[in-house]
Amino acid sequence: MAQINASIGFDQRLYAQDIAGSLAHAAMLGACGIISKEDEGQITAGLHQIQGEIEAGTFEFSEILEDIHMNIEARLAEIIGPAAGRLHTARSRNDQVATDFKLWLRDAIDDQAEGLATLIGVLLARAREGLETVLPGFTHLQPAQPISLAHHLHAYATMFLRDLARLADGRARLNHCPLGSAALAGTPYPINRAHTAATLGFEGPTSNSLDSVSDRDFALEYMATAAICAMHLSRLSEELVIWTGPQFGFASLSDAFSTGSSIMPQKRNPDAAELLRAKVGRIAGSFQSLLMTMKGLPLAYSKDMQEDKEVTFLSADTLSLALAAMAGMIGDMTFHREAMKQACAHGHITATDLADWLVRTLHIPFREAHHITGMLVARADEAGCQISDLSLEQLQATEPRIKASVFEVLSPKASMTSRTSAGGTAPARVAEALDATERDLTQLLKRFGKQT
Ligand code: ARG
Repeated sequence: MAQINASIGFDQRLYAQDIAGSLAHAAMLGACGIISKEDEGQITAGLHQIQGEIEAGTFEFSEILEDIHMNIEARLAEIIGPAAGRLHTARSRNDQVATDFKLWLRDAIDDQAEGLATLIGVLLARAREGLETVLPGFTHLQPAQPISLAHHLHAYATMFLRDLARLADGRARLNHCPLGSAALAGTPYPINRAHTAATLGFEGPTSNSLDSVSDRDFALEYMATAAICAMHLSRLSEELVIWTGPQFGFASLSDAFSTGSSIMPQKRNPDAAELLRAKVGRIAGSFQSLLMTMKGLPLAYSKDMQEDKEVTFLSADTLSLALAAMAGMIGDMTFHREAMKQACAHGHITATDLADWLVRTLHIPFREAHHITGMLVARADEAGCQISDLSLEQLQATEPRIKASVFEVLSPKASMTSRTSAGGTAPARVAEALDATERDLTQLLKRFGKQT
C-alpha cells in the first residue's frame, strides 16, 4: 500500500511551491485572526528552516508520510511543536496540491517561454541571412516553386510564435488560486482568499470550490500546447535530417550537434534531430495519459489525480531540453547556398511562372496556360533539359505567341522575387514578416514573468 500510495518520490519536486503556499496561507490566517501572530511567526520560521534543510540536502523524505505536504508538515511539528498543527486550519491537501501544482506549472511555463523565445530569436536571425538565398519549396516533397531560405525558416518561427501564444493563453487561464477551497466545499473559517491569491501572484481566487480541487485543465492545456510544439520541433527535425543528408546537402550541422559513426568514418549523423523527432512521443503521450486519467472522475478530488504530476514533469522536462537542442542546432548549422541553387535546376521549378506569364502577357485563361506549360514540360523532358533551357523556337513550336521576354521569369531567383503578395516569399515581404514576428514576440513575452 505504501508503495502504490506514496507520491513523495516525485512530488518532492513541489517543495518550494508547497512552502510558498503554506507561508501565504499562514500569513492569511494570521491577518484574519484565525491563528495568533505568535503561531504565525513560529510556522513561518519553521517553514523557512525546512526549505533550508531541503536545499542543503539534509531533509529526510519518508515514504510512510506519503507526499511532500505531509513530509513538510511532520517536520514542522518536530521543529516548532503543537503550533504546527494550526497550519492546516481552513485548508486540505486537495486545495493545497492544486495550488502547489499550479505554482510549479506557472514557473515551468515561464521557463518554457524563455526557451521558445530563444529558439524563435535564433530562427529569425538565421532567416535574415537568407533573404536572397533561393532553394526549392516543396509540396509532397517534390520541387514545387522557388522560395527563399528566409521564408522557410520564418515559417517555423511563425509556428513557434503560435506555441508561445498558446502558452500565454494557458498561463492566463491557470492564474487563479484554489487555496481556501479546502477539501471540496469551502470552509466555515472567516478566511480571506483574495489575500492568499495576491500573495502567491494569482489574479484572484477560483470561483467554485468543487471545481478548484478537481480541475486539472491547466495541466492538460499545457501538455496539449507542449504536444503541438513538440510536433513542430519534430517537423523541423525531419527537415534537418533531409537537408543534411548527402542527397540534399542543403546544410551541415556543427560537430557539436552531430555525432560520428562507430564504423563508417565518413559519416556525421544528425542524432539530436532524430531524438527530437522521437521526443514528441513522450510529450504527446503525457497529454493522453492525463486526459485518460481525468475522463471518468466524478467531482471532486479522487486519488487518480495524483497521477497528474509525473507526466506533466516529463512533458515539461522533455520540451525544455528539446527547445534548447533545436536552438543549438539551428544557431550552429551551416547552409550550403550553392547546393540549394543547384537543386532549383531540376524539376522545372519555374513552370508556374511560365503559366503565369502566359496569363499576364498573352491573356490566356489560366487553365489553358497550365495545359500549354504541361506540353512544354513534356518537350523539355524529351529534350533532356529544363523548360528554361528550351529555345524561343522550341517554345514557339507549341505556342507561337511566346516572346523572348518570357525568359525573364524563368530563373528561380526571378520567380522567388516576383512573389510579392502579402505573406509571400519576395525578399521585401519576408523582411517585413520577420520584423512583425519580432514585434509580436516582444509583445507576447510581456504575458510571462515569475511572480513567486
Ligand atoms: N499526494 C496527493 C496528490 O498528489 C495529495 C492530495 C491528497 N488528498 C487526499 N485527499 N488524499 O494528489
